[in-house]
Amino acid sequence: MTTASMNTQQPLLEGRNVSKFFGGLAALTGVDFAVYPGEVVGLIGPNGSGKTTLFDCLSRVQTISAGEVFFKGQDITNKKPFQVAHMGLARTFQVIRVYNKLTVLQNMLLSRQYGNTSIRKLFRPYPDVLEERAHEIIHFLLLDRVVNEKAGNLSGGQKRLLEIGMALMPDPELILLDEATSGVNPTLIETIKDRIMELNQNYNKTFLLIEHNIQFIGDLCSRVFVLNYGQKLAEGTPQEIMENQEVIEAYFGADGGDDDDW
Ligand SMILES: Nc1ncnc2c1ncn2[C@@H]1O[C@H](COP(=O)(O)OP(=O)(O)OP(=O)(O)O)[C@@H](O)[C@H]1O
Ligand SMILES: [Mg+2]
Repeated sequence: MTTASMNTQQPLLEGRNVSKFFGGLAALTGVDFAVYPGEVVGLIGPNGSGKTTLFDCLSRVQTISAGEVFFKGQDITNKKPFQVAHMGLARTFQVIRVYNKLTVLQNMLLSRQYGNTSIRKLFRPYPDVLEERAHEIIHFLLLDRVVNEKAGNLSGGQKRLLEIGMALMPDPELILLDEATSGVNPTLIETIKDRIMELNQNYNKTFLLIEHNIQFIGDLCSRVFVLNYGQKLAEGTPQEIMENQEVIEAYFGADGGDDDDW
């Protein structure tokens, strides 16, 4: 795995001076960052620090107020969500977005990552190759037993896995995961971790992960960015970040703390 300091490659994803204002509220101010091919990078920060807003800007579901974003060297600052999805950038959502009344397989086939998703698509013929791909991914994510189960009956962890599966359908190069362990039991957290590692190491997928579970970050990420009040507070290895006094103060106040779940 590569780290930025030794990396002479072009970043897969790069933000320059990214800012987002909601009226008078500065959700992001002048954020610079780069994610290189093959990395698993963590994005952490206290509640309300702008993490999800950054994902919304990168996946283009929110406009960017100032600054620029590049994906594979192309300026995507003004592209539409379906355009960046087609370029190979996928994401999941902090608040799970699956169709509860549809089965796991139907959710996969409808994956909105293609953009312009309509329920009518389910009633049109779709290529066998799409269904084959859906089954392969379902198998990879250990969801075979629930393939025909309605998504609403899945556990929190199974829903998170399904969302990852939906994100994988278009075979993206970069996957942004927003709190993939939130609402997930410890066993399935291990499954999610293991699947991310496998996707990274054997399927060439690059990840940017928003997480509050610092153990998960430590196990998976080579680098971590920290946001605080919409600005980049720090950047480094998980170890460096955990020992960074400014980061500890941002999370726990000046007297620090020892909670695993940041
Ligand atoms: N659509 C919106 N309209 C107005 N304000 C928003 C909007 N989305 C986010 N914000 C504000 O922007 C700031 C950053 O929110 P964001 O959801 O990005 O934080 P976060 O780091 O993801 O937090 P959490 O860890 O709680 O998920 C907050 O003050 C939030 O209230
Ligand atoms: Mg968030």
